[in-house]
Amino acid sequence: MQKAIAYAEAHFEDFVGQLEDLLRIPSISTDPAHADDLRRCAAWLVTHFEQLGLQAEALETEGHPIVYAEYHIDDALPTVLVYGHYDVQPPDPLELWESPPFEPVRKNGTLYARGTCDDKGQLFMHLKAAEAYLKTEERLPLNVKYLLEGEEESGSKHLPGFIEAEKERLKADIVLISDTSLFAPGVPSITYGLRGMAYVEMTLTGPIRDLHSGMYGGAIENPINALAHLIAGLHDDRHCVTIPGFYDEVRPLTNEERETFRSLPFDEKAWSREVGVDVTKTEAGYTALEGVSARPTLDVNGIWGGYIGKGAKTVLPSKASAKISMRLVPNQTPEEITDKLRAYFEAHTPPTMKLTFTDLHGGHGVLLDTHSPAMQAASAALEGVYGRKPYFTREGGSIPVVADFKKILGLDSVLMGFGLDSDAIHSPNEHFGLDRFQQGIEAIIRFLDIYAKAG
Ligand code: BES
Ligand code: MN
Ligand code: MN
Repeated sequence: MQKAIAYAEAHFEDFVGQLEDLLRIPSISTDPAHADDLRRCAAWLVTHFEQLGLQAEALETEGHPIVYAEYHIDDALPTVLVYGHYDVQPPDPLELWESPPFEPVRKNGTLYARGTCDDKGQLFMHLKAAEAYLKTEERLPLNVKYLLEGEEESGSKHLPGFIEAEKERLKADIVLISDTSLFAPGVPSITYGLRGMAYVEMTLTGPIRDLHSGMYGGAIENPINALAHLIAGLHDDRHCVTIPGFYDEVRPLTNEERETFRSLPFDEKAWSREVGVDVTKTEAGYTALEGVSARPTLDVNGIWGGYIGKGAKTVLPSKASAKISMRLVPNQTPEEITDKLRAYFEAHTPPTMKLTFTDLHGGHGVLLDTHSPAMQAASAALEGVYGRKPYFTREGGSIPVVADFKKILGLDSVLMGFGLDSDAIHSPNEHFGLDRFQQGIEAIIRFLDIYAKAG
């Protein structure tokens, strides 16, 4: 293990150069125009695995390819299934990037480009950890399988079906994922909870065409006004979601959990000020940290309709639309919550409007057992790197496949990620500290060694 760590340190510059090549491929999964880039990215990863001496292939799905690689030494040793995603979010709004999103730039030890943190930079740490072992000890300390998908940012549509069909091939003892955050710089953490997701799009249609707002305004209801009214009704003045039954299945926080939240060194003011906001707003009765990780939420992601060009144009629009996501916690299910939102809109859509409602995607939240041997191995690995024990934290983001791994394969996951809230994932100027890239590689090297001995 020490030799592998030393190798990773010595070859760090090469590793960063290779990561830059990976980042130059604009693998934006939501945009069909980039389908060939996803294919190219998958092929790049396959080649990289092969150069390390692993068997790898890009497996076709109805959507973007899944990269699968395998390293097997001994049936008697445990098997780790590494998951990551090579697709990225669209870079919009482009004009806010200080350097082009797919031309990586290094500034003061930080690498800027779309995907540096989420998740190319983090999945690449796993390839480099394997390389470090293979170049110094000729073998990995256990069996490893790699499953890298290209559709995470667009809802992992074809992944559950793939996992179901490939149950045999994916047999493992534990899943290891680096696609989450550290608690703070230099403060290691392991994520034991993630929120789920229900994502819908809806449109209200009033008149059959855009109308002159002077000729019709006052007697024909405006769809944007009506939509704004419906959306405003989704929260009450305690900032609770008003959809009937929304909280029915929510597993309440235990006193112990709340105590743990309180003990975390979280500076709420500094945290919100970093995004330019002086005061937080949370569901009544909960702290900000609980609000962003352990409570369900509803957010409008986009809203459009009518005239948004330059200057004034008087129009009473025909349509108004919104994209709405809800972050779920165990034991809410995306299907039930989506149905409840649909029922709310159906009940409150005024007789002047027609409603169309589309379920875009969903996923379950998870809570993981922090006492398992794999979690303890991750804890020891992080302690080895950072010189202090990690916190166990819940995070508000979603990785729906974590619940699928449990349901379909019966596997628990270890979420050992190295992002920071300030890395601007999904935003302009996404970046990843190269110190954390290095720490991540070392932590993975340590994890594989410790888990091989414990598992
Ligand atoms: N890596 C993120 C999720 C994440 C980020 C978890 C930070 C914990 C901390 C992932 O790529 C992501 O963006 N997921 C989407 C899921 C969705 C498309 C189903 C999300 O959370 O919005
Ligand atoms: Mn991610
Ligand atoms: Mn993401």
